[in-house]
Amino acid sequence: MTDLSSTPAIPVTIHRGDYAPPEWQIPDIALDFALGVEQTKVSAALSVVRHAAAPAPLLLRGDGLTAAEVRVDGAVWNDWRMDGSDLIVDLGDRTAAAVEVDTVIKPASNTQLMGLYASNNMLCTQCEAEGFRRITFHPDRPDVLSRYKVRMTGDKATFPILLSNGNCVEQGEAGNDHWALWEDPWPKPSYLFALVAGDLVVNRDSFTTMSGREVELGIWVRKGDEARTGHAMKALKDSMAWDERVYGREYDLDLFNIVAVSDFNMGAMENKGLNVFNTRYILADPDTATDVDYDGVEGVVAHEYFHNWSGNRVTCRDWFQLSLKEGFTVFRDQNFSADMGSPPVKRIEDVRLLRAAQFPEDAGPLAHPIRPDSYQEISNFYTATIYNKGAEIIRMMATLLGPERFRKGTDLYFDRHDGEAATCEDFVRAMEEGGDIDLGQFRRWYEQAGTPRLSLTLAQDGDDWSLDIRQTVPPTPGQPDKAPMMMPLRLAAFAMDGSGATLPDTLVTLTGAAQRVPLGRFASRPALSVNRGFSAPVIVDFERAPGELAWLAAHDDDPFARYEALQQLMLDTLVAAASGDTGDAQAVIDAVAQTLAGAAADPAFVAEAVLLPSEAFIGDQMVTVDPDAIRRERLALQAAIGAALEREWRAVLAGAAPPATDLSSKAKGGRRLRGVALAYLAATGQDDIPGLAFGIFSGADGMTERQAALATLAHGDSDERAHALDIFYQRYRDNPLVLDKWFQVQAWSLRSDTVDAVKALAQHPDFTLANPNRVRSLYGAFSGNQAAFHQADGAGYRLIADLVIALDPKNPQTAAKMIPPLGRWKRFDEARGAMMRAELERILAQPGLSRDVTEQASKSLAG
Ligand code: BES
Ligand code: ZN
Repeated sequence: MTDLSSTPAIPVTIHRGDYAPPEWQIPDIALDFALGVEQTKVSAALSVVRHAAAPAPLLLRGDGLTAAEVRVDGAVWNDWRMDGSDLIVDLGDRTAAAVEVDTVIKPASNTQLMGLYASNNMLCTQCEAEGFRRITFHPDRPDVLSRYKVRMTGDKATFPILLSNGNCVEQGEAGNDHWALWEDPWPKPSYLFALVAGDLVVNRDSFTTMSGREVELGIWVRKGDEARTGHAMKALKDSMAWDERVYGREYDLDLFNIVAVSDFNMGAMENKGLNVFNTRYILADPDTATDVDYDGVEGVVAHEYFHNWSGNRVTCRDWFQLSLKEGFTVFRDQNFSADMGSPPVKRIEDVRLLRAAQFPEDAGPLAHPIRPDSYQEISNFYTATIYNKGAEIIRMMATLLGPERFRKGTDLYFDRHDGEAATCEDFVRAMEEGGDIDLGQFRRWYEQAGTPRLSLTLAQDGDDWSLDIRQTVPPTPGQPDKAPMMMPLRLAAFAMDGSGATLPDTLVTLTGAAQRVPLGRFASRPALSVNRGFSAPVIVDFERAPGELAWLAAHDDDPFARYEALQQLMLDTLVAAASGDTGDAQAVIDAVAQTLAGAAADPAFVAEAVLLPSEAFIGDQMVTVDPDAIRRERLALQAAIGAALEREWRAVLAGAAPPATDLSSKAKGGRRLRGVALAYLAATGQDDIPGLAFGIFSGADGMTERQAALATLAHGDSDERAHALDIFYQRYRDNPLVLDKWFQVQAWSLRSDTVDAVKALAQHPDFTLANPNRVRSLYGAFSGNQAAFHQADGAGYRLIADLVIALDPKNPQTAAKMIPPLGRWKRFDEARGAMMRAELERILAQPGLSRDVTEQASKSLAG
């Protein structure tokens, strides 16, 4: 016998160009589950219909399943065979058949958290992208859509609640067991199937749709958690109303359920009528959740709800089209959150995330277009590029079309493809027709990877000024040569001399590699406000004097552009300092002071604007990243700003914090600004700061203030640090989501012993590799801590590689997500680069490595 689990993964590459429509469709599926945590029996009945003209075998994918018997039209059938883990049924020249297969699965030993698994004694499913094949044999591809009938039977005491997609149409009891029959009237792909069984309590509410239908809403959680579901429920109702108002899309079932589970690989999943969520995106109350957590709940609830149209009613033809549903749905949730709060602050946050997660991906060995050409393991392609760059591509189309024509385009898209498995090309075509625009060249955004760079220079002819724009798209793996992209660029220009001359907000459509834009008449060089609102996801290279940036930071009429100007000023100063040149700290201090003066009117915006760029983003601007110099210079600038504006920072903290129950933008902004003020003061190293921070920590009425104070203390070595960490641990040791924060703040610490601290925390009794949130809170936070992860002796690299090796056999998806930081070796000095490659090689030398980790590590090594 060969032990399949230790056979090295043979990388099989799937190509987009190889797509062929399914030979068999499955209009109806009946599933019968005999539920047990240790063992669950699944009986599947598939009504299959041949779509291929000629006879073709029925290919049913399986993963870890065995088929004892196959029945066709009620009789035992012998014309089948296994092909690896797949089941191939030869149906001769039949054009339709009823195919039945029984399988037995073991939820309790499913540590991958794909398919049917156990979490806290309850059973739940995760099927996207290819988890359904771990439950029963099935084509398990998104272009096979079926109506599902799901029957489940289980012990009443263990599984008092039985849920699946659609509506519960029948239920009954039999001895200690009970059963329920659920029917989903909407045909759906297998990745949207869901089942949940367990001891859950519900927060119930209802929503009346625009056509007057009453929808019952339920958020299901473990006993004791129900009081923390109010914010998620509000977000759900707000999302339902928003999608009606903004896109004209109504919910289409009488029931919408959400279940929160503690063990979940991702954030949440949009299963039809039965969303399954990571608890961290459902549970929130002021004592345990920060403002960032609250916003996360709101955004993720909205995101999964919006998938009901962008993903479920119109789904994806194949997984290469993933951005069709994810990019579009991120765009939708971003706009929803903007409408619920402050649009400029939301835009700042989204652009910051794009630059932190997507730009590095696009500049490294794992770069891929938003519609990839090939993959080995689809789970590796739920990336910042598919999601966040994908959202930017939709946003650019919305900008090019304007709101009315964009709405015409989305109406056409939803109406034309309702009930279908569509492609990115279908979306673009609907935009072209609905918006009456030619997007021919724009399609390159779907084909070419890499972040375009715009080099700008101002040209002068007497008093006539113009802007010269040169566009390049860098080479990426497999794509050495690129053509220029079409993009909307919003710009404006202002006279700095008080004459009032301006070029008002203008939308320019770039198409060429070189383009000249007239700016108008200015007596002297105007201040240029460019890529306003981040209208295109590009890097802009434009030499500007500190005075010009400071002027824009103070006067630009676009808040996003004001933010950008101040960030650029800080960045120029920090990059110069980290590269051994002298930066102009005084210009930064003056500009921060100027911005801070507006804090009372808009604290949320000011808190974002005065924050120094992250260490990683500073590194991204350097030819070779020097993590130690970056940390040193960033802390030095922070200390200089802290000291110069000490009175102002102390004044921010002297006022009372807004009550933690106040979730208005202004209150959230006020708390954020207090956190920023505390961090600036802490950087000065003044003696009273640990006491001040400890006072805030102890007196806080909510988690935002408490966590901000704890994180600040965690950077230092005061007695207050140890004391606060201990208090926090004792108070929250039984609340897993809050305990995650305890691990996280320590892994984020700027102390020089953080690698050792993380190593020790991995041995803490509360640490476990079985829970992805816990893994992310320790190791995910650590690998984002640039100077710690890149510690010169390579201990940080070793720590992450050890984790990948230990986690891969249990949870390959989560293990593979830890690899990308090791793949950025080209960006660091030779010594660090060699150590990073050595760790990737060590991972690849492990026997029995998963396909997930194999793909990420080998691509990262190739560079
Ligand atoms: N469809 C995904 C969830 C998913 C992704 C399941 C990959 C399985 C594999 C869901 O809609 C999603 O995108 N969730 C995000 C959160 C969202 C707000 C971007 C997530 O889970 O991170
Ligand atoms: Zn999604």
